[in-house]
Amino acid sequence: MPTNRFWRLNERPEGHDYPAALSLEEQEVVSPPDGQVVVQADYLSMDPGVRVWMTAREDGYSPPIPLGTPMQGQFIGKVTESAHPDFAPGDLVRGFGHWATHSTVDPLLSGLTKLDSEIDDVRQHFGALGLNGWTALCGLVDVMDIKPGETVLVSAAAGATGSVACQIARNKGCRVIGIAGSDDKCSYLTDELGIDAAINYKTQDVDAELQKLGSNIDAYFENVGGKILDAALPNMAMYGKIGICGLIGGYTSDSGLPGPARFDQILMKRLIIKGIFLPDFMAQGKDYYPALKRWYLEGRMQLGFDETVGIENVLDSFTRLMTGKNTGKVIVDVRS
Ligand SMILES: NC(=O)c1ccc[n+]([C@@H]2O[C@H](COP(=O)([O-])OP(=O)(O)OC[C@H]3O[C@@H](n4cnc5c(N)ncnc54)[C@H](OP(=O)(O)O)[C@@H]3O)[C@@H](O)[C@H]2O)c1
Repeated sequence: MPTNRFWRLNERPEGHDYPAALSLEEQEVVSPPDGQVVVQADYLSMDPGVRVWMTAREDGYSPPIPLGTPMQGQFIGKVTESAHPDFAPGDLVRGFGHWATHSTVDPLLSGLTKLDSEIDDVRQHFGALGLNGWTALCGLVDVMDIKPGETVLVSAAAGATGSVACQIARNKGCRVIGIAGSDDKCSYLTDELGIDAAINYKTQDVDAELQKLGSNIDAYFENVGGKILDAALPNMAMYGKIGICGLIGGYTSDSGLPGPARFDQILMKRLIIKGIFLPDFMAQGKDYYPALKRWYLEGRMQLGFDETVGIENVLDSFTRLMTGKNTGKVIVDVRS
């Protein structure tokens, strides 16, 4: 029998000290129980939301991961053994399982999906055509209802979800401003993705830069929270819309982020603020996929990868994501 190598959560991490909280373990892969399948991963997706599940927070959108159990996350891989009628060995699939070489999952609970083989780069089923693309599309279109000609602001704009959100807004005829953490990321956004302006929040005053760009933001796709949200609020247009997709600035904390300092602007500008949580829109996934696929095949949607090789290097990869070292989608190639 093959051996599964998996990351186990032993303690609630302090900050980004993941090596002190997780360990790489080995266990023999056994045949799946009735109704389940074993998937051997090719790639693992690194997603900031799982950092919240590492904490003891009971008020998150998912319960804390129990200590002593495998760390949870998305995989792309091949079914190696199946005790489920809809899946057979060799099927290329994506789903929620573990930070592991092998995940044994219930297809329904895992969201196990057979992948479209017309896509040349299978990794895009995590990114532009997966969780990040779906989240950006459902947030901008279903939650925020963006319209051509509107000004759209995106934070963590050079990351996976943010860069896809920038491109969707651009493709929909909006004026797009991105906020990111380095000059290189800002150049990527304006020069390669062709958005209208980018602000480096580490070296520039975001509020002042937004004022220089004319304020009047119709829609803000928020990934960060804290000071960046405070800077955006007074620059919103009357009746503007804010979609809270993520609050990564507070994910290491057990108590989340405090409310915005410029809360008054919600009244003054009569803003609408809504949370965006992709699983609420899972049923629409089949509707999101064709638009994303068309843009991708037409070259109007791109997403690069920050790729690390080896299951033993997962914690380095996750740290890169959580400390902003990445541009594009963070993944780990665990094929070797
Ligand atoms: N609601 C949903 O269903 C859903 C689904 C997917 C993702 N999300 C959310 O979308 C956001 C982006 O996720 P992703 O997977 O696409 O990751 P990502 O944007 O590729 O990577 C995270 C980025 O966040 C920025 N960042 C990290 N710590 C920060 C901090 N303290 N302050 C400001 N920026 C920080 C970094 O970029 P900089 O260099 O620019 O700082 C980093 O590159 C996250 O908040 C995530 O939770 C939500």
